Amino acid sequence: MAKTVSIAIDGPAGAGKSTIARRLAQELGYCYVDTGAIYRTVAYFMDILGISPKDADGVAKYIDELTVEIEYDEAGKQHMIMNGMDVTEDIRTPEISQNASLVSAHSFVRDVLLDMQRDVAKKHNVIMDGRDIGTVVLPRATVKIFLTASAEVRAKRRYDEMIAKGQKAELSQVLKDIQQRDYQDTHRAVAPLKQAKDAVLVDTSRLDIEGVVAAIKAIIAEKVNP
Ligand code: DC
Repeated sequence: MAKTVSIAIDGPAGAGKSTIARRLAQELGYCYVDTGAIYRTVAYFMDILGISPKDADGVAKYIDELTVEIEYDEAGKQHMIMNGMDVTEDIRTPEISQNASLVSAHSFVRDVLLDMQRDVAKKHNVIMDGRDIGTVVLPRATVKIFLTASAEVRAKRRYDEMIAKGQKAELSQVLKDIQQRDYQDTHRAVAPLKQAKDAVLVDTSRLDIEGVVAAIKAIIAEKVNP
């Protein structure tokens, strides 16, 4: 099998990873994998069962009853399938964001999901976004980007997105949620969010989407088929 190209984009919540990764995947004809959606699906499953994401024994007891599949529709949009049910939209709430961050801290949860993520990258050219792609999931990724922005800028972007979708939101609460997730995601013992040694740092605080896409395309061009 020909060697596939993998582009890892890690960074904190709201840095613009999914928007940028989706755009790049479309332009390059790669498969976009949003790994946060996988953790969100686990969190959603536990929520339905009434298991706290912090309850390691409870999560461990029921994780084997969960099957998670990733499917793509004709437009290339990633769908999350939980035990045969499409939960793509259900996992996008502030509560599930927090629960996903908490449930992802258990090492056995991360272990269960590791092969699934690596398998996609073995079969397809991928742009994969998450927290530990460059450090743990694909340590030999062709290109590694660490995308970040100030917490205030990220909160404002998230807030605007929620308002545009017709959801209720308060900017101060969105900022608090982001800061809490930043803390949890960077302080957990297993696979914490951090920049890989060989990742290129891109701060998007002062860039618009076009600017970020252009910056990352230039980084990719240097490493892929130079
Ligand atoms: O990218 P996101 O906001 O959808 O991710 C939700 C949570 O899932 C995030 O706060 C931490 C966890 N996560 C992770 O631990 N590792 C990843 N590769 C992706 C997400």
